[in-house]
Amino acid sequence: MNDKKLIFSGIQPTGTFTLGNYIGAVRNWGPLQDEYNCIYCVVDMHAITVRQDPAKLRQNTLNSYALLMACGIDPEKSILFIQSHVKTHAELNWILCCNTQFGELSRMTQFKDKSQKHPDDINAGLFTYPSLMAADILAYNADLVPVGVDQKQHLELARNVAQRFNQRYGDFFTVPEAYIPKVGAKVMSLQDPAKKMSKSDDNPNAVILILDDKDTIIRKFKRAVTDSEAEVVYREGKDGINNLMTIYSSVTGKDFAAIESEFAGKGYGDFKLAVGEAVADHLEPVRTEFARISQDKAFLKECYTAGAEKALKYSQRTLSKVYRKVGFVDAR
Ligand code: TYM
Repeated sequence: MNDKKLIFSGIQPTGTFTLGNYIGAVRNWGPLQDEYNCIYCVVDMHAITVRQDPAKLRQNTLNSYALLMACGIDPEKSILFIQSHVKTHAELNWILCCNTQFGELSRMTQFKDKSQKHPDDINAGLFTYPSLMAADILAYNADLVPVGVDQKQHLELARNVAQRFNQRYGDFFTVPEAYIPKVGAKVMSLQDPAKKMSKSDDNPNAVILILDDKDTIIRKFKRAVTDSEAEVVYREGKDGINNLMTIYSSVTGKDFAAIESEFAGKGYGDFKLAVGEAVADHLEPVRTEFARISQDKAFLKECYTAGAEKALKYSQRTLSKVYRKVGFVDAR
């Protein structure tokens, strides 16, 4: 590889991503490809920390892979692969688990949230999930990790684990930095703007899926919860409008001042319609590309097989060095 910095990020295979996934993370991944060495992955091993239907998981993983390509990730420019195809992630995870403290895992808000949501399945994988995420990142000694704000705590843990390992065994891992967008790092639910937009929301109107058709997108925005005023301005206490302005800004490139003057004297109805149309038009090429790419199963397979091969080769080098550092006997 060259001396460009290395980017790593991953996404869970929910099949179709939310507008939150897209604005907070995925849409930023494509443009980074020219400036950095990029490695992106569909994290199917993380997905099974909550119960999955196997057939659906398989389909969702393939769709997520195709969708990343439709969002502009080019497997010729980046290494794009499926996590379970690259065994080094699980192997490094074990070493990192032995360098992660029970106490720090207990503090993870996502663990607490998911335990509450699935009280009948608080499994060990759900608990140690952040160690696997650290392994994803550290296996490539990534410099930067482009994520939304909700992943910041996990990234902080990855940094701590890297530092702890370096102290115990001598400087080795790069301590990764989060790369969080200035606008759109936390897209909120359309029905409860105090809550993050999340695929697992029970109310489908709260979430825009990036493969939703134009009518659905507009309908969901029309129903978005706002406030009892009628002023399109970005201000504390106007969570719903702030969220819609953030979304509108990130798909049109207009700043908040421009948006405020565009909608001065107009009602929320006009604004919501404009946001819906702008989002739907922005996502149109993604939908079209996805329809095309997801048809071509042979091409997809070629891409993810090649991606996994490259990722394995790269991460195996890291893992072999880690094995030596911790004192394992060379296998050959
Ligand atoms: P995941 O699959 O939940 O989300 C993928 C990316 O989308 C971002 N995101 C959001 N950004 C803004 N607003 C929202 N409402 C919103 N919802 C989600 C997330 O911050 C994330 O960047 N653990 C990770 C996947 C992962 C990973 C990694 C990421 C596994 N290994 C290594 C980076 C590096 C996750 O579950 O993301």
